[in-house]
Formats: sequence, structure tokens, C-alpha cells
Amino acid sequence: MHHLLITNIGKLFGIEKSGQEKKWRKGSEMAVLNTIEHAWLYLEDHKIHSFGKMDDMDFFPAENVYDAEGRSVLPAWVDSHTHLVFGASREQEFVDRIHGLSYEEIARRGGGILNSARRLNDISEEQLYDLSCERLHRVMCQGTGAIEIKSGYGLSLYGEMKMLRVIRKLKEHHSIPIKASFLAAHAYPPEYRQDHDGYLKLIIEQMLPQVADEGLADYMDVFCEKGFFSADETARLLEAGWKYGLKPKIHANQLHRSGGVQVGIQHKAISVDHLECIGDEEIDALKNSETIPTLLPGAAFFLGISYQPARKLIDADLPVCLATDYNPGSCPSGNVPLLLSIACTQMKMTPEEAINAVTLNGAAALEMSQEIGSIAIGKKANLIVTKKIPSAAYIPYDFGNNPVDRMLVNGVFL
Ligand code: NIG
Ligand code: FE
Repeated sequence: MHHLLITNIGKLFGIEKSGQEKKWRKGSEMAVLNTIEHAWLYLEDHKIHSFGKMDDMDFFPAENVYDAEGRSVLPAWVDSHTHLVFGASREQEFVDRIHGLSYEEIARRGGGILNSARRLNDISEEQLYDLSCERLHRVMCQGTGAIEIKSGYGLSLYGEMKMLRVIRKLKEHHSIPIKASFLAAHAYPPEYRQDHDGYLKLIIEQMLPQVADEGLADYMDVFCEKGFFSADETARLLEAGWKYGLKPKIHANQLHRSGGVQVGIQHKAISVDHLECIGDEEIDALKNSETIPTLLPGAAFFLGISYQPARKLIDADLPVCLATDYNPGSCPSGNVPLLLSIACTQMKMTPEEAINAVTLNGAAALEMSQEIGSIAIGKKANLIVTKKIPSAAYIPYDFGNNPVDRMLVNGVFL
């Protein structure tokens, strides 16, 4: 049986005592990142077996000991919203935005998501896999130990299946948990611009049955937004997804107050993601639901739009989640440490809140908080061993730098 004892851990962050494990941390609980100073951690059979203070270490296996020499350990990031499978970068649109065009204007001219759809259809499935693999490895080196990846740049039966097959192959060849979301409703393809009903039918009658039949997706996603999919269209798609057992996780309220949050909640979405444009009505609706508010401030940063009201959501006692939104248009970075810096400086989340938001609450947004997201007995040993850092706050403080020294996946060093 595989086992590893880590000794002399400077700080063991994100612990949960046996029997006190939570599904998520909400409201004021988010400010608490339980920590043991000068700790040991024992991993067995790819899972967390036990942990404690060095002073009280009760056993000393002779082999497989790693002396952390004061480095810290914390649960790996759970990035619950990405579009990591894409064909090509879109830096021309970045330059166009600098010159004054908005994200929506670029989309109306056939750029944006439609640009990515063209680029995706230009390359082979093998090339797409290789590019995606490279990106996945890069974010794993920055601490990501579980991830969600969406389709949505295919926009045709063939293209969407190609993306989902690439995600499935990533799942097969990587030992971190990967969840797939079906996002054919990301934009109307040009041939359906005047025929919304036709595209919805294509998704509902042709794509969904095949996706479900091959077990290619875990979740149903829709870009609910003015100029993209209306709240009514979103409702129709989410109902269809549920018929195939796909729970909703949707894009809501990024650019407008489009009713996305409410329609997500009405359809029992696991999470509603983005939330740049929300007010008291949306917050009240969230309070009366089990739906997680997931904030993607990396996209707000890169598009130069207003940030999500993280403090208001935390004050409303909600379990706020953070994710990167890694995609070629609105956030070409899957770097979670940088996301933490943005969350702290721009949304005034504390470092502890931000870390909880992208560990335990990220796990909850993928329905995996019983398996990952904290240092708790029996959880999967997907962990970050940091460089020598003085505190948890140092991680977002040291912005632009990588806090990760080594990654453990299933108890094994990468
Ligand atoms: O989450 N908003 C919709 N989807 C992505 C952006 C996709 C793109 O521009 O390629 C997002 O921001
Ligand atoms: Fe997104």
C-alpha cells in the first residue's frame, strides 16, 4: 500500500476535524482557515490518513518520509469553471478592446466565441488534445488539483462532440478529478442567428441525446445573457438537460441583469457563475436556495468591467466560490494564485475567504466536497506543498509569483 509521511510542515492550512467536515463554508465561516503550526501529515492509500502537531507525532514509519523543512501544505485548488479546451489565442480582440471596442461589439462582429468556434473547427482532435494537455499541466503546476472544463466552441453536433471527447481523454489520462459541462448554448452559430428555435432544437433533439448516451458530460451550461441566450431560452435548455440527468451550472449576469440568477435557481442549478451584474433581488433569491454563487473576477479584470459584489454576498451568509474562467476571450489565464490576488485586492475578500472559496467551496461547486477541498481524514491527497512562506496571506500578497513548490496528486508527488 502506498504511504507517505510528511514531517516538519510549517503550517498545515485548511484542516477539518473528524466529524466536523462541512459541505462548504458560508458567510462569516469563510474567514476561518483552520491551521496547525509545525505539523505532520500521513497519507495512505492515496488519501489523508491522519495529521497533527509535530510535538505529538505518535508514529515514525522508517520509509517514505518527506521532510518539508518548514514548507506549508494546503488542499489543492478546485477550479470549478474553465473553458480550457480551445483552439487558439485571441490577442487581436484584446488589442481591439484596448482601442475601445467592447466584448459585446466584438461578438456582434463575428469575433469572440464565434472566432473560437472557427479556430476549433480548423484543427484536428489530436492537436486540440495536445494544446489542452499542455494548459492542464501548466495550471496543475500552479496548484490546481481538480477542474471543470466546458465545451462551447464547437457550436455544431460534430464540434461539440469533438470538444467533449477531448475532455474525456483528458479525464482518462490525468489523475486529478475533471468534470465536463455541455455548453452548446454558448452563442448562436451564424446560420442560426435568425432561427433561435432551430438551434435550440438541434441542441435538445440531436446533441443532448448523444452527449448523454455516451456519458460525455456531467453538467449542463448556458450563457444566459442579452445578445446570447435569454432567460426563457435558458429555462427550456435546462429543463431538457435535467431530462438526461445533467444538472445546471450556468453563466449568469456577466454583462446585464438578464434574469440568469433566478432562472438558474428555479432549475436547481448547482452554481450560477460570473455575477458581475447583480443586486438585492438576486442575492435574496440565492439566500433561499442551495445554488452556489461562483465569482470569476479574472474575467472582470481582463475585460475591465466592474467586479462582483463579493462582500455583499458573504455578508448575506452565502457560500461564495471563486473560479478562473480560463478561456481565450475574457480570461486567458488559469492561474489560481493570481485569481486570489485579484479577489483580495479588487473585491476585498480576505486571503482566508479567498482560499476557502477556491478549495472547499470550489469542491462544493463540483459536488465533490466529501472527497476534496480540505485537509480531512479520508479525503483524496491532492495537496500543494508551498515554497517557504510566512502565512496564508502571503499567497495573494506575493502576486504574480507561484507559491507552489511541489504538488501531490493522490498522495504522489508530480
Ligand atoms: O465565461 N461569457 C461567456 N463565456 C466565457 C467567455 C468565452 C469567450 O469569450 O470565449 C466567459 O467569460
Ligand atoms: Fe465562462
